[in-house]
Amino acid sequence: MNAADAARGVPSRSRLRASRWPARLDLLQSLSGLLLALFLIAHMFFVSSILVSQQAFYTIARFFEGAAFLAEPRPWIVSCVVGVVMALFMLHAWLALRKFPASFRQYRIFIEHKEQLRHSDTGLWWVQLWTGFALFFLASVHLFGMLTQPELIGPYESADRIWTGNMWPIYLLLLFAVEIHGGIGLYRLALKWGWLQGADPLAGRRRLRIARTCFSLFFLGLGLVTLLAYVQLGIAHADRAGERYVPHKAASRLAGHERPGGLEFALSRRPGE
Ligand code: HEM
Repeated sequence: MNAADAARGVPSRSRLRASRWPARLDLLQSLSGLLLALFLIAHMFFVSSILVSQQAFYTIARFFEGAAFLAEPRPWIVSCVVGVVMALFMLHAWLALRKFPASFRQYRIFIEHKEQLRHSDTGLWWVQLWTGFALFFLASVHLFGMLTQPELIGPYESADRIWTGNMWPIYLLLLFAVEIHGGIGLYRLALKWGWLQGADPLAGRRRLRIARTCFSLFFLGLGLVTLLAYVQLGIAHADRAGERYVPHKAASRLAGHERPGGLEFALSRRPGE
């Protein structure tokens, strides 16, 4: 840059060179969103194992505490996994904040554009923004519970939390917010990075829309049926809320051999109770 340019305040060529950071941050946002979506797909299947049996859910919960390879289950392992998911969730939310309208003026401009364009994908972005905003609060409540009480994951423990602990309205809202947000997120990722689009872009977009609707409906349906199963179990177990699930206890109860106050009752209590 020569002295005359400097005097006129013309920026140097190196300062004009476009920064790569916006693109890197965009990539990071896509990647963190994809990892969260994959985690949530797996999570939904684990949680819905209650539909198979109480024993199936109990076994999966203990598996994540290392029961298969340690002498006894260690709930802190679950807390560590929750910590990683929380970090990913925070990173994803922080990156998304860059795109939120930052002032009333920006908000008005976006609404005007949205109304002028009447473009369905622009509308979807708006839905994603609001469901994402709701997730800040709803997912934080759930994650904090899982982080601090990992030992209370089990058929009775989860059902008691959902019914007697009044968590079901939070889970219901969380379920809708996360499935709608995740479905739109994956659809936008596929459009952005050109996945599954084929030779004809219009037909590709139509296919992706169908896939998005099927994805959201499937996981919403599975989530609602699962939540209903926990609510039913929570209602049935309400008079014994706080009692822990013990597999052989459930088995002997089924067989009609349970004697109140016996060894099984002692086993079902937490240390110190
Ligand atoms: C490692 C982290 C996580 C763990 C260990 C975990 C575990 C669980 C468990 C055990 C339940 C059954 C109910 C209960 O026990 O309270 C549940 C339900 C649920 N979780 Fe998570 N979760 C995690 C992360 C998340 C995240 C990040 C989201 C969404 C942003 C989420 C959304 C849900 C929803 C919507 C339900 C209700 C499912 C239904 O319809 O029955 N979870 N989770």
